[in-house]
Amino acid sequence: MSIHIEAKQGEIADFVLLPGDPLRAKHIAETLLTDAVCYNNVRGMLGYTGFYNGKRVSVQGTGMGLPSHMIYASELINDYQVKTLVRIGTCGGLLEEVKLRDVVMAISASTDSSSVGRHFPGMTFAPTASYRLVQLASANAAKMNMPLKAGNILSSDLFYHFPEEGDAYELWRNYGTLAVEMESAGLYLLAARLGVEALALLTVSDHILTGEHVSAEERQLNFTNMTKLALSLA
Ligand code: HPA
Repeated sequence: MSIHIEAKQGEIADFVLLPGDPLRAKHIAETLLTDAVCYNNVRGMLGYTGFYNGKRVSVQGTGMGLPSHMIYASELINDYQVKTLVRIGTCGGLLEEVKLRDVVMAISASTDSSSVGRHFPGMTFAPTASYRLVQLASANAAKMNMPLKAGNILSSDLFYHFPEEGDAYELWRNYGTLAVEMESAGLYLLAARLGVEALALLTVSDHILTGEHVSAEERQLNFTNMTKLALSLA
């Protein structure tokens, strides 16, 4: 048991998918895994362990934002010896060339969050994905005919902005940042600090420039294809 996860030792696989939404964890366990068993219901933050193509994998909801995500990732690594963590989530497209439904692979994750910045006063750290996972995901995506947009993303603490901020994303766009979400930089920081491997795969569910967004149904379908790519990394 850890503070936020009630699993017993050994109940969590060393490869874990991390969706933000706990009900997505449940859906993945029920539709893509075999022999899935629920190991966590503390705060309704569901976690399951099952099998995908014979490989033992877990899927754990994390909630939204760096602080919540980092609580679950920390406990999985420190208390349950998890070695590979793959975030699967949605993002808002920032650049014109990033289209709705695209799958974005975050090679790096910039952030405005003090959850990262506080550790490097007056300096910057570059939260970076595992090169092995980047290579493997690229190769597997090509086999699955799934185009990937790979590059830097922004992990922001804010979903809603006040109008006086103006275009909160212009700065990031000027530096070629592909998309915005709210967790990956925290995951990459922990992976670096604690010596494990991490990657974030994100589907573009809405576009910041155009305001368009995909339907709930499509969101699910796109998500399933991306989840299969994430599971292929186990
Ligand atoms: N902002 C932040 N996080 C997100 C967004 C967004 O527009 N879309 C999906 N995750």
